Parts: sequence; C-alpha cells; structure tokens
Amino acid sequence: MLKRFTVSMEDSLLDDFDTFIREHRYQNRSEALRDLIRNRIIEKEWQAEKDVMGVISIVYDHHQHQLQEKVTELQHDFHNEIVSTTHVHMDHDNCLEVIIVRGKAGVIRNLADSLRAMRGVRNSNLTMGSTGIDLH
Ligand code: NI
Repeated sequence: MLKRFTVSMEDSLLDDFDTFIREHRYQNRSEALRDLIRNRIIEKEWQAEKDVMGVISIVYDHHQHQLQEKVTELQHDFHNEIVSTTHVHMDHDNCLEVIIVRGKAGVIRNLADSLRAMRGVRNSNLTMGSTGIDLH
C-alpha cells in the first residue's frame, strides 16, 4: 500500500532534483524518490555484509594462456554463490561472461575482485542488487 508524506526542501535542491528526474526520465517525483531510497538501502545492505544478489560481468581474451580454465576454476570455488553463468563468444578473441551471484556481500566482492585481478580480463563490473527482503 502506498502512503503519502510531505517533504520540505530548499528551492535550489528541488530544482536539482527536478533536473535529475528529467535526465533519468522518471514519471514523477515520487517514483524518483522511491528509486533513490531503494538504491541507498541496497548500498547499505552491501556495506553491512548482508545477503545480497548481484551481477558480475567480465570480458576476456580466451587466447590468454589458461585464462579460460582459471575463470572456470574460480567459479567452481564459489559454486555456493553463483546462481548462473552465461558465456557469449563476442568475436574471434573475446568472451563475455555474465555471472549472477547471491550470498554474503563480502564473499561476492571477493569473487568480483579475484576475477578483475586475473591477467587477461579486460573489463569487469559488479552490479550490486538486493535480495529484496529489506525493500518491502
Ligand atoms: Ni567464448
């Protein structure tokens, strides 16, 4: 159920907020505010070492010596945290792997850092999501 409340803020801050809303194509202030609050709560979950969900994406050259094996081996070390992995052969050299993860924030961060540190991994990203429990 949606509840209403009144928010007071300075003109200049409200102007900045409305600019933000236009730039990010929110329908209205309520939707933008809800999204900002949710993002902040997700950030807090990740800092508090709670159970989280996220997506790790990496791009690497599969010709790099043994890299493919190392990436697979590392993922087996984190089999409890990895929900699913999708491998895309981008072109002749490059592979994209999208890894959906769920677990303690620190463990997930550790996995993402280990992948990023591998020689031959060209690009690595961790998108922090939430299990959703604290968002309701
Ligand atoms: Ni490939």
